[in-house]
Amino acid sequence: MQRKRNYVIFILMMVIPFNQIMAQENKSVNMRQLIKENFQFAAEQYKLLINNTPSDKMPRTYKDGKLLTSGVDWWTSGFVPGSLWLIYENTGDALIRSEAEKKLQIEEPMKHYTGNHDIGFMIFCSFGNAYRITHDAKYKAVIDTAAAYQSTRYKPSIHAIQSWNRTNKFQCPVIIDNMMNLEQLCWVSTNSSDRKYINIAIEHANTTMKNHFRNDYSSYHVVDYDINSGSVLKKGTHQGLSDSSAWSRGQSWALYGYTMMYRYTKDEAYLKQASHIADFILHHTNLPADRIPYWDYNAPVTDTTLRDASAASVMASAFLELAQYSNGKQKAEYIQTAKQILITLSSDRYRSRSGENAGFVLKHSVGSLPGNSEVDVPLTYADYYFLEALKRYRDWYL
Ligand code: GLY
Repeated sequence: MQRKRNYVIFILMMVIPFNQIMAQENKSVNMRQLIKENFQFAAEQYKLLINNTPSDKMPRTYKDGKLLTSGVDWWTSGFVPGSLWLIYENTGDALIRSEAEKKLQIEEPMKHYTGNHDIGFMIFCSFGNAYRITHDAKYKAVIDTAAAYQSTRYKPSIHAIQSWNRTNKFQCPVIIDNMMNLEQLCWVSTNSSDRKYINIAIEHANTTMKNHFRNDYSSYHVVDYDINSGSVLKKGTHQGLSDSSAWSRGQSWALYGYTMMYRYTKDEAYLKQASHIADFILHHTNLPADRIPYWDYNAPVTDTTLRDASAASVMASAFLELAQYSNGKQKAEYIQTAKQILITLSSDRYRSRSGENAGFVLKHSVGSLPGNSEVDVPLTYADYYFLEALKRYRDWYL
């Protein structure tokens, strides 16, 4: 039976592009069931993950048979509390909720953090979900405070928020990832009468649109500015293959960031930018048929080139939102791409088996290959955006 099926697929591949065959195959997948099963699986895995983690720490990754944790000042500290809230919302599991509340308690002091731009990821992914689900005013107060501290990193001379502090490599670096931190600023202004925060986000998004993108709408990872004159000193990379390459997670952050900026502003320029970025991704010759990108779009493709599940899950979530603002063929392609990613990530190739990987849901992400850090491992943000994308698919497309 299996041999006959493989033979039919092989014959089809001779005449129809592989991604169309996959789309055909995916028609038979019951997405409602797949989403429900993933949330139930995540609930069991995350109970294990929390059990394995000291109460004053956050899970970070799993390597060589060991769970690695971080303090709350690491940029990813908001993702596990955020995932716990998403799992609670979608399963009603009371134990998961109480673990989410405990992790918020240790995360809360980060509302005053000004060490880098990541306070948006840290506070909005954790407290943002908590407030969205519970409407408890104490969570909103934490987000409001965090936005005030975040805005202190805005530098009028460069018309943007400085990502990292000065190092011997960069004077005033802004990385494409920073687009994600803008959501916290947009949200706070939208939920108050103070436009200050969204105005900063708009200025940052406009500056990034001007300086971070190449003619093909791929993004540089890092733009370094002269803090006095505001002029661009250098465009390059920190986590990608080379200064001129398209680091995969960076392209996903860009896609998500401009789609989100359109949601808050309804400025067509952001929607156009997001659809150009989508075109770059979808038409890239190195994007595999299963839509899980290699770690960098310019990495030479061999049998051992690593995929990045985190870039895939961020992309899936972003495509599902972009599809909300699109029509016709484009809309269908965005939804189909996200569906393909969700199905692939749910397979044994990318998802842990029950009890595996200390409780992480997904495998095969790449933190920083040039830095030889977190290479081909589970990562908290891959899980977080996977769960968010599952929820978005169910809420919007089923
Ligand atoms: N913001 C860091 C990363 O995407 O790896």
